[in-house]
Order: sequence, then structure tokens, then C-alpha cells
Amino acid sequence: MKILATVEDIKAYSKEMKEAGKVIGLVPTMGALHEGHLTLMRTAKKAADVVIASVFVNPTQFGPNEDFDAYPRQFEADCEKLRSVGVDAVFHPAPQDMYPEGYCTYVNVEGEFTKKLCGGQRPGHFRGVATVVTKLINLARADKAFFGQKDAQQVTVIRRFVDDLNIPVEINMVPIVREDNGLARSSRNAYLSEEEKKAALILSASLAKAHKAYDEGERDVETIKKIVVDSLNTEPMSVIDYVELYSFPALEEIKTVEKASLLAIAVRIGKTRLIDNLILGE
Ligand code: PAF
Repeated sequence: MKILATVEDIKAYSKEMKEAGKVIGLVPTMGALHEGHLTLMRTAKKAADVVIASVFVNPTQFGPNEDFDAYPRQFEADCEKLRSVGVDAVFHPAPQDMYPEGYCTYVNVEGEFTKKLCGGQRPGHFRGVATVVTKLINLARADKAFFGQKDAQQVTVIRRFVDDLNIPVEINMVPIVREDNGLARSSRNAYLSEEEKKAALILSASLAKAHKAYDEGERDVETIKKIVVDSLNTEPMSVIDYVELYSFPALEEIKTVEKASLLAIAVRIGKTRLIDNLILGE
């Protein structure tokens, strides 16, 4: 596996691959890789000739009081995992290489949907994501890029700016990967103590209750949300940030679930903020 440590390295590599006629798949990550990421890599391997993963904790998508400094960094272990699934190259730039002195260009997606869910609670977050993902797609000269459903709103934002800016890349969303006990895989699970990990099971368990109600015919948005809220509130350690149900991918307000809709939750367990979701009505 090639290690591309600089912007110049990745430019040279993607130029060579393009000239050789390869279909390039890009999997952007912030590292601390888990099975969810590796599923993205395997999916990309099947769909592209060459897979470039990026490992970059992107400073522009963190707010001033968020966990940028604490975010887990374990590049050597990440490389081992990337090698094990046959990734061809990993791009691991320094922040000052991606944002050199004088840097002042940002991609700002302005739709109402960016103000909902995580966008409402993390101002500037999607501006940072859209900016770095644009740069990564350009640098990798990616034909296809792969993102997890766990950050479903992020996928909506990325699809929107790719469309709006006519970026010739295909965006693929890959389903959530869970532990056997239901906990959605996340790099932030590393912050959880054993006790908190047990408490965190309430997220997937609450979504499962909503899924059951949906399967039994419930379609009313407020009722489905209440099932989730009531269930989350049975866990004393959980503090709800939001429980929302919108159309997907547009993320518009709905009263009943008639077509694909996103039931999305954000919950604090101790100091850790976890998100999870479920797509109903597909
Ligand atoms: O989903 C993530 O890990 C990040 O938001 C991404 C897409 C790698 C951009 O930094």
C-alpha cells in the first residue's frame, strides 16, 4: 500500500492512475478505523480498480469546543487495517498542507436541511466537511466516493454540492455496521467506559422499537418519535440531543412516513455524543 503523505504525492499518484485508465474509488475517513470503515473499503474495492483511503482529522469541521484535539489518532494501526482489506493507497496529509497559509476558500451548502440534526447543533460543521470532501475528490480525481449511512445527513449534504457544483463523481452510501449487540460502529465508541458502552445500547434498542412499530403499521411521525424518546429515557445515563424523522434524502418535514424517511438520533452518554439512525419506508 502506498503512503501518500503530501498533496503533491496524491496528485502524482492519481494522475498516474487516471492515465492508466483506472477507475478510482475514494474513501474519506478521519482514521481510528473500525469495521464500518473497512466495509466502506471492501465496497469500494468491488466497485473501483484502485482504492484511495484518506486518513485526515479535518480541523475545519470541528467547533471550538469540540473534540478535535482528543479525536483518536492511530495511523500505524489504521495502515495495518487498510492493508488487510487491500486498499491501494492512503492519503495522510498534515493540516498545513491541506490548509496552507492564506487559505480562504470554503464550500458552504446553504439548504435548510443543513440547519437540521447535526447541522443545527454543530454550526460550521458541514462547511468544513463539504470543503475537505471537495478537496479530497479533486486530489484523488475520484470517479466514485463512499460514505457511511451512519452520517446520513452528511451524505445528503455531499450529494447536494456534488450535484450543484457539477463534480463528476458518483456518491455511494453504505449501510451502518453494528456490533453483535446492536451498537453502531463509531470511532467515538473508544471514549466510552464499560458502563457507558452498556448504556449506549439504548440507542439501537430504541430505533429497533420504532422499526417494530413501523413494521406493525405505525406511520405517524410524532408517535414514532415518542416511542424512541420514551425508550431512550428509560436509560438514566442517556441525555437526548435530538430525535427526528424527516424524508430522506431531502430531509424535509413530514407528518407521516410514506416513502424513504430518516429516523435520526443524537444522544449523550456521559461526555460522549453518539448518533445512530434508521431508514424507514424504503
Ligand atoms: O465522516 C467523516 O469521517 C468525515 O466527516 C469525512 C467525510 C472524512 C470528512 O472529514
